[in-house]
Amino acid sequence: AVTGVQTCALPICFPMITGLHHVAIAVRDIDATAAFYRTTFGLPGIEASETLPDQGVRAAFIPLGNCRIELLQPLRDDTTVGRYLAKHGEGLHHICLETDDINGELERIATTGVALIDQTPRHGLAGLIGFLHPRSTGGVLIELVQVTGDGGALAVSHDGRVLRVLIAKPGLDGHDRGAKVVARALRDAGMEVIYTGIRQTP
Ligand code: CO
Repeated sequence: AVTGVQTCALPICFPMITGLHHVAIAVRDIDATAAFYRTTFGLPGIEASETLPDQGVRAAFIPLGNCRIELLQPLRDDTTVGRYLAKHGEGLHHICLETDDINGELERIATTGVALIDQTPRHGLAGLIGFLHPRSTGGVLIELVQVTGDGGALAVSHDGRVLRVLIAKPGLDGHDRGAKVVARALRDAGMEVIYTGIRQTP
């Protein structure tokens, strides 16, 4: 028998990356930048906008075919994007690849030796997101997103014996009864549960 050799019946491919979701630009003024893209290229106005305190930014999307331009405006100077602006000025900040399984992708990519900024997904403007470190990706900050859409999304990860469940759902603000019941049951079972809403304001 052959020993010490692992074979896999599956072809080597990465079907879980499904496309380019957005290209992100660091800006000082979202509204002024959106106006520039509208008057210069005839693009529509902002489609979704949200303040993300944990990331220290206000973020907004300009729709563009099956892709988007994301505008990131820092809430304060002492934030990641604030420091980026101080150092580089306005400009390209990151690209975002879409996946249908953010947990699976982060776990798989980690096994290839690429450094992750986020070991587990967190809440972003479009859904569940995770960043890869640019030192492992040729200098490009790469974000992955699993779009939650109308049906919401569930991400499950484990760290030792702690199971972490993240429920993301549009409009979920802590008052969704079904999500509350599910979250309580999971917590009673000893799991860490984080649930978060995706609120999109036109
Ligand atoms: Co982004």
